[in-house]
Amino acid sequence: MKSPRPRVLFATPECAPFVKTGGLGDVSAALPAALHELDVEARVLLPGYPGVLAAFRGARELATVAQAASVPACRLLEASLPSGVPLIVADCPTLYARDGGPYQDAGGHDWPDNGHRFGALSRIAALLGSAASPMEWHADIVHCNDWQTGLAPACLHYTPPPRARSVMTVHNLAFHGSFDPRLVAELGLPPESYAMEGLEFHGRMSFLKAGLHYADALTTVSPTYAREIQTPEHGAGMDGLLRKRRADLTGIRNGIDTTYWNPATDALIESRYGPENLGAKRANKRALQRRLGLDEKPEAPFLGMVSRFTHQKGTDLVADVLPGLLGLPLQFAALGSGEREHEHALRSLADRHPGRISVTLGFDETLAHLIEAGADLFLMPSRFEPCGLNQMYSQRYGTPPVARATGGLADTIVDTTTQSLADGTATGFLFGEASAPALAAAIRRALDAWRDPVAWRALQRNGMARDFGWMEPARRYVEVYRRLVAAAGS
Ligand code: ADP
Ligand code: GLC
Repeated sequence: MKSPRPRVLFATPECAPFVKTGGLGDVSAALPAALHELDVEARVLLPGYPGVLAAFRGARELATVAQAASVPACRLLEASLPSGVPLIVADCPTLYARDGGPYQDAGGHDWPDNGHRFGALSRIAALLGSAASPMEWHADIVHCNDWQTGLAPACLHYTPPPRARSVMTVHNLAFHGSFDPRLVAELGLPPESYAMEGLEFHGRMSFLKAGLHYADALTTVSPTYAREIQTPEHGAGMDGLLRKRRADLTGIRNGIDTTYWNPATDALIESRYGPENLGAKRANKRALQRRLGLDEKPEAPFLGMVSRFTHQKGTDLVADVLPGLLGLPLQFAALGSGEREHEHALRSLADRHPGRISVTLGFDETLAHLIEAGADLFLMPSRFEPCGLNQMYSQRYGTPPVARATGGLADTIVDTTTQSLADGTATGFLFGEASAPALAAAIRRALDAWRDPVAWRALQRNGMARDFGWMEPARRYVEVYRRLVAAAGS
């Protein structure tokens, strides 16, 4: 399977703009497009959720996949991403065509058949990397993303050669995809795969463990997270396996779509700007205050947050520190949704402080852009953060982040100190301990800096000048692919 132009199947459970619950949706759209520019023939494989099928009505059928074990038959449809990257849609109505989210129903409960839904996706990915591919095309590399595609490397392992090499990218180690061991047979895997040296994890079948055990190469989305997940604290029980495989594990920070997230051209914000006319940010702040019903106070520092409201993201820390900071003239706005108690804690603060605190529950692309553009500071107090995209957006929008020094946050933000201000590298504010006092101290430090307009402008411009584009990370992925293809051919 040696090819001068690697053929990569990028298998993913979400891809913007069709289906997105978090950063993986953004990565799945942007990374394959960057790979194309580097002469990699990447195709994306995505389940046919209703929103995906609606975008491609009348799409041509590329092939059919027969029923196997208890996985139903499926059609593969031809589509493409807005970037022009070919998209293969796995159309299997019994598994994917239902109202609700990609992983959960409208009430927030996991779909009971997620094992079959993503077992099918993984099987199709592996099939497209085998000589038995039902399409004329087959992949040299099957690139899997998170547990939803984690079974593909196991399926490939049990596929007779010639077969694709596999890459497993961990976007979040906290989600394991654990199911009843009965699924091993139901998904057509041999009984011997259910072993400690296989996909068994604490008496369950784990899709993530399958990916981590069987994939030829492992990557995760920042160098710091690659080190952290090899420790018991951040390893979610997989740290032993990850330490064993550390020679195969590479940390590659995510990029961002610098065309879509560009304050100079962003059609979703009130007033466009760049490093030379940062004063125009004020119009965005005013628009944000109006839209959210907050007092129109240009002089009040504005703290923004766009996030899943979960323990991972530290939204509870924000709810804990805000009351103690309200002696200062600041305003705060959060957009997101997630765990009920986190939503409730933030909402009750907003109810108690109208005009100063606003909390919007839900997913709102336009408001997300306006918060990035209109806020003065962006909060990301994550307990862990594999990479994180918002802190890169916020730096690009001249909105310095206040973030915990973990994972990709530590890799993409330079803390403000006398030294980093002097040498022109400072871009934000980092704190160490995952506690409310540590977050409060970092916010106070940021507000002190905010009161010095010269230093603040410098900080904004430093962040705006950083290159967070996809080209450098995409090159690193190409190196991983080329190493695997070379090893297969030798
Ligand atoms: P994660 O994937 O862990 O949620 P990331 O920072 O990698 O975190 O990516 C989150 C992505 O989802 C960003 O593009 C962010 O703007 C977007 N996002 C998160 N919540 C919302 C929301 N409520 N409305 C709009 N966009 C959101
Ligand atoms: C996950 C992580 C986030 C990362 C995203 C894309 O959702 O929580 O840190 O940026 O995946 O890789």
